[in-house]
Amino acid sequence: MPDVSVELVSNLIEGGKKPSVAAIQGLALGGGLELTMGCHARISTPEAQLGLPELTLGVIPGFGGTQRLPRLVGLPKAIEMMLQSKFITSKEGKERGLVDALCSSDDLVKMSRLWALEIANYRKPWLPSLARTDRLGSLSEARSILSSARQQAKKVAGNLPQHQACLDVVEEGVLFGGHAGVQKEAKIFKELVLSPTSKALVHAFFAQRLTTKVPGVTNVQLKPRKIRKIAVIGGGLMGSGIATALLVSNTSVVLKEVNPQFLQRGQKMIAANLEGLVKRGSLTMDKMNKAMSLLKGALDYSDFKDVDMVIEAVIEKVPLKQSIFLDIEKVCPPHCILATNTSTIDLNVVGEKTNSQDRIIGAHFFSPAHIMPLLEIVRTEKTSPQAILDLITVGKMIKKVPVVVGNCTGFAVNRTFFPYTQGSHLLVSIGIDVFRIDRVISSFGMPMGPFQLQDLAGYGVALAVKDIYATAFGTRNLDSDLVDLMVENGRQGTLPNLFLLFQCCWS
Ligand SMILES: NC(=O)c1ccc[n+]([C@@H]2O[C@H](COP(=O)([O-])OP(=O)(O)OC[C@H]3O[C@@H](n4cnc5c(N)ncnc54)[C@H](O)[C@@H]3O)[C@@H](O)[C@H]2O)c1
Repeated sequence: MPDVSVELVSNLIEGGKKPSVAAIQGLALGGGLELTMGCHARISTPEAQLGLPELTLGVIPGFGGTQRLPRLVGLPKAIEMMLQSKFITSKEGKERGLVDALCSSDDLVKMSRLWALEIANYRKPWLPSLARTDRLGSLSEARSILSSARQQAKKVAGNLPQHQACLDVVEEGVLFGGHAGVQKEAKIFKELVLSPTSKALVHAFFAQRLTTKVPGVTNVQLKPRKIRKIAVIGGGLMGSGIATALLVSNTSVVLKEVNPQFLQRGQKMIAANLEGLVKRGSLTMDKMNKAMSLLKGALDYSDFKDVDMVIEAVIEKVPLKQSIFLDIEKVCPPHCILATNTSTIDLNVVGEKTNSQDRIIGAHFFSPAHIMPLLEIVRTEKTSPQAILDLITVGKMIKKVPVVVGNCTGFAVNRTFFPYTQGSHLLVSIGIDVFRIDRVISSFGMPMGPFQLQDLAGYGVALAVKDIYATAFGTRNLDSDLVDLMVENGRQGTLPNLFLLFQCCWS
């Protein structure tokens, strides 16, 4: 935990008579980067990652980073790096003034020594970063940059105190100098680190890292098997998103649909998803073409004989899912994992008619599946540890956060969401405006309210799961007809509408 004595270390290094040069390789994040900024120069390998991601933990940089970073890279870039917890490579750091020279890892120590000698012999007096003002711009420029950053932070992080606090501390240094800024930084850090926000974010950080450690699965010497080819059944909203996520990670995908028209629609959705990723800059054209080449369409099960995993994503109907699981048990190889993307249905019911209970597992993605990071992995009491490990591995491979949960109606996420949605429907039933409910929840800190979320996911899913909840929760279930009324009046929700629009454009 940073305190004044630690900050004194970087001040001591910076104020020392002997030059200190930081040699950076790998990651220099948070306190690591702050320490290097206390040095007289920074030499790095080109691919090293530099950043101050403290705000994601509900605090601000506490070793002088809020003061030295703006003095080295300028206010706009420093604010972007801190408020958005953005990393940059050393190569960019060199262009921005954060890194003084780049070299290979073999030459790193030698080069850093040479820099220290040169500073000692020829570059006197050396101006410490904390005393620099040349990158801060004029006072009025700084004020305008800080003011628009405050507006932006209010929009994206209205309930998070660390964003405005970070800007206050940066401003203190701009107005009264780096040392005053460092004093304020230490004071604010100590307050924030004890805040409920920080405690919650630190908990979430460690919890996220624990998700891939599952007792009885990841600590029993099992090795993940290679999953080379995956079949996705259903090329609708979810199936096309799941297929996209797999293809982007270089996995061969067989996409099965019921007829050529729906198959073509699914393939085009995948192409559009990939193009979207290219537009967002997260995929190159080459990778998009490679991904498309790994996709094969199918209208029957003949390509299923060598698949390592099947992910079923057809509509939420118990008899349909049961008959599909009967079919795939027959056609897939015995090692093949049989996964379902069901949102709610008890997996024992899905696999009831098969003899493959040990390889039946839930792979519950969230919409849009190629973007949302959560992958809820549902295990029954019979699912084998190997199948769970393999799905965790696939999850990591496609850059999801895999969370293993137990089996019951709604699993963990939708079961938790059930009373939340029910509460909001109960309020509507006594006459409260849906928009007001959404507004109150958004201002509480949720990214959107329950009705906007339901609209985004589509009313088809809400209708399909209604009966499943009614059966599972009996009298605890509020029988609201709001969604039925929306559908009767031609409302489908946002994503399904986009989906339909897309279908019209392509057919
Ligand atoms: N929509 C969501 O937000 C969401 C989120 C998580 C999970 N889910 C779950 O994902 C599943 C699919 O939902 P969706 O929203 O993608 O539905 P969807 O209606 O958009 O797509 C379902 C697709 O399955 C196809 N299909 C039906 N029977 C088939 C068969 N025998 N073989 C091959 N394809 C077949 C249909 O033609 C359709 O294209 C459901 O179980 C749902 O509960 C949905």
